[in-house]
Amino acid sequence: MMNSELPEPRLYVDNAATSFPKPPRVLQAMVNYAQAIGASAGRGAYAEARESGRVIGACRERINKLFHGEDANHFIFTLNCSDGLNMVIHGLLRPGDHAISTAIDHNSVLRPLNELASDGRITRSIVKVDAETGLVDPQDIRRAITAQTRLIVVAHASNVSGSLQDIREIGRIAREAGVAFLVDAAQSAGHVPIDVQRDGIDFLAVPGHKGLLGPLGTGVLYIRPGIEKKLRTVRQGGTGSVSESDFQPEFMPDRFEPGSHNAIGIAGLSEGVAWVLEQTVAKLRAHEESLCAAFMDAAAGIEGLTFLGPRQIAQRVGVYSVRVNGWEPLALAAELEHEFNILTRPGLHCAPLAHRTFGTHLPAVAGKPTSVGTTRLSFGPFLTRPEINRCVAALETIAARAGKLAHSV
Ligand SMILES: Cc1ncc(COP(=O)(O)O)c(C=O)c1O
Repeated sequence: MMNSELPEPRLYVDNAATSFPKPPRVLQAMVNYAQAIGASAGRGAYAEARESGRVIGACRERINKLFHGEDANHFIFTLNCSDGLNMVIHGLLRPGDHAISTAIDHNSVLRPLNELASDGRITRSIVKVDAETGLVDPQDIRRAITAQTRLIVVAHASNVSGSLQDIREIGRIAREAGVAFLVDAAQSAGHVPIDVQRDGIDFLAVPGHKGLLGPLGTGVLYIRPGIEKKLRTVRQGGTGSVSESDFQPEFMPDRFEPGSHNAIGIAGLSEGVAWVLEQTVAKLRAHEESLCAAFMDAAAGIEGLTFLGPRQIAQRVGVYSVRVNGWEPLALAAELEHEFNILTRPGLHCAPLAHRTFGTHLPAVAGKPTSVGTTRLSFGPFLTRPEINRCVAALETIAARAGKLAHSV
């Protein structure tokens, strides 16, 4: 029986930061690893070390299947999505090269590129996106290509506006021009179908801990077969293989996986990926689309509420940056948490150029220069339509208080 006196349970709506909850089998696999396996793959000949290697190999196979890769050994385990992005940006670009990214990219792309450009090692172009939809025109990317361009980087889905880019068309343009194509799939992997072969992707950087439902501390980088020869290693070390060699092995995946694996995390990730495969990305996408429809229909009726990004569901994922008249983003998130037990993320979301594009780098409340950015709600596979309604009802209640506001936390 519902007791209206009881507070509503905590509702996590920050899946763009990391997904929560995870399927129970993710945690079970990690507990089993810790209790029954424990060993480090490639670091012993005994059964437990071999089992660790099997767990890691099985995870690679599942990921290869999910993204329709050519060879499971071309999926490298990383720490997170940023790690994979850095491996490509620092490993591929040479002095004198030119790189292209977009105005909606995350700091995990912007900062490594800025680092290389700051002392003139590379030059770069930042291609604009539409100020309403956040979508890039692939022809603008084509026009930005020069004889020096070695890399195009695109965030498949924006963590600010949810805008979903046409990566297949951009991949085609990159292939035609002979330029490597790196896709930042932080907000799309597990949410939207991705086929590395069909989409013309050379490198795919993926967090294990968001849409693939693995634990924090996991990530994956796809390296197209053949292109690994052009990618310098940014780390070298023990691989448990060819230990007599003075240099990093040439073969995959050892070339890019020095040091002991996060095997316990990979054991969990493997089950997250198995769950996604069983559900199918198409079905997860259909569920997310229904949540988007419910949110946008209801939000349209709230006076004083605006959100960023495309209105067409086909052009977006379930990431909504909102502003409510009179409310600072941080105060709005605090109110949602403290009064409604709803967890969101305020601020610039590590994507300052995206907020600049949308104009949300400017204060939300006049005279409050710290009140920049938006309050972000981001959906995950376990969120339900009634929970979306709960978010909308809370936003509606808060928006109705607009007069008394402009308070900060
Ligand atoms: C678009 C985008 N790229 C990259 C990242 C970095 O991901 P990670 O935290 O796994 O390094 C994020 C994280 O939110 C993101 O949203």
